[in-house]
Amino acid sequence: MAWVYQVEELPTGSGKLWALKELRPQTQDQAEQAVARGLFEQEARLLRDLDHTNIPKIASFFELDGRAYLVMEFIWGESLEKRLTSTNAPLLETDVLKWAVQLCDALHYLHTRKPPIIFRDMKPSNVMVTNTGLVKLIDFGIARTYKMGKKRDTVAMGSENYAAPEQWGKGQTDARSDVYGLGATMYHLLANMAPTPAFLPSEPLPLANYNGAVSKKTVAIIEKAMDRDRKKRFQSAAEMRAALVAALPGPYVAPAEVVAVHTPPPAVPRPAERPARRAPVQVAPAQRAPVPVAAVPVVTAVSYTHLTLPTKRIV
Ligand SMILES: Nc1ncnc2c1ncn2[C@@H]1O[C@H](COP(=O)(O)OP(=O)(O)O)[C@@H](O)[C@H]1O
Ligand SMILES: [Mg+2]
Repeated sequence: MAWVYQVEELPTGSGKLWALKELRPQTQDQAEQAVARGLFEQEARLLRDLDHTNIPKIASFFELDGRAYLVMEFIWGESLEKRLTSTNAPLLETDVLKWAVQLCDALHYLHTRKPPIIFRDMKPSNVMVTNTGLVKLIDFGIARTYKMGKKRDTVAMGSENYAAPEQWGKGQTDARSDVYGLGATMYHLLANMAPTPAFLPSEPLPLANYNGAVSKKTVAIIEKAMDRDRKKRFQSAAEMRAALVAALPGPYVAPAEVVAVHTPPPAVPRPAERPARRAPVQVAPAQRAPVPVAAVPVVTAVSYTHLTLPTKRIV
C-alpha cells in the first residue's frame, strides 16, 4: 500500500507543490516486499518516459530509510471512487462519457508505445478528476509492457471487479483487457455498484437494474467493452473512443489543461507586525487552491528537497 503526501518544494514559499507517493512495506515477508518494491520501481520507470495530458508527470524517484518515494505532479482533484462515495448515487451519464473519452486517449497513448503498455488496473480509485473535468490516470504499479508471443502473464493481477477474464491466468493481457476495465469502471460509476468479478459464472446484472436513466447507446458500449470474449469487445481504445463520442448528446470538447496549479496565498502577518491599514488580499480565482480530497491516510506538507538529501536516486 502506498501513502500519498502533498509536499512543497524548498525553499518554502516557492509555491511549487508535488505529490509524494511513499511505499511502506505491509509485510515482514522479504519476498513479498521485493515484489511490492519491484512494482513501485516499475511504476516510476514507466511514468518517467511518458508524456500525456491525462497521465501525471513524474519529477523524481528515490529511496530513503528503506522506503521508496515517487515525486509526481500534484493533481488538484479527487478520485472517482471518492466522488462516488460523496455522491452516493449514480454519476451523470454525460460526465462519465467525457471522462471515458479521456481515459481512452490515455489508454490509446499507452497501447501505442513501443512495446505497448497495458495499464491493467482501471478502476474508480485509480482515476482522478479535476474541477475542470480533466481526468488523470494514476497508479501504474501493475502496468506492464506487452510481450509479443507470450501466452500468459507471469503475474496475473488487477482488482477483481474490473479485471478482464484473461487477467485471471487464462491468457496474456492486451489492449482489450484495458477496454474491459474501462467498461467495468463506467458500469460502477453509472450503477453506483461495482460489477461482479469476471471469474464468477454469473454475468453482472444489467446496468438498467440499477439506473434506468442511462441511454441505450451507453449501455451497449459498456456491454460490448465488458464482453467476456475479447474478440467481441472494442478491439482498441480508439474504437471505443469513437463510440463514446457518438453517444454524447453534443460535440465532444476536451477540458482545459490546468497550467498554474497553485500559488499559496500570502502569509498573514502576526498581529504585532500587521500594518495599521492592510490592503485586502486579492487572490485571483484561478490561484485559489481547491481543497485536495485524497483517499489517502495522510496528506501533509513535508519538505521534499530535505527528503532527497541522503537518498539513492533510482531514475
Ligand atoms: N499525483 C497525485 N496527486 C494528488 N493525489 C494523488 C496523486 N496520486 C495519488 N493521489 C491520491 O492517493 C490515492 C492513492 O494513490 P494510488 O496511486 O492509487 O495508490 P495505491 O497504490 O495506494 O492505490 C489516490 O486515490 C488519490 O486520492
Ligand atoms: Mg490505486
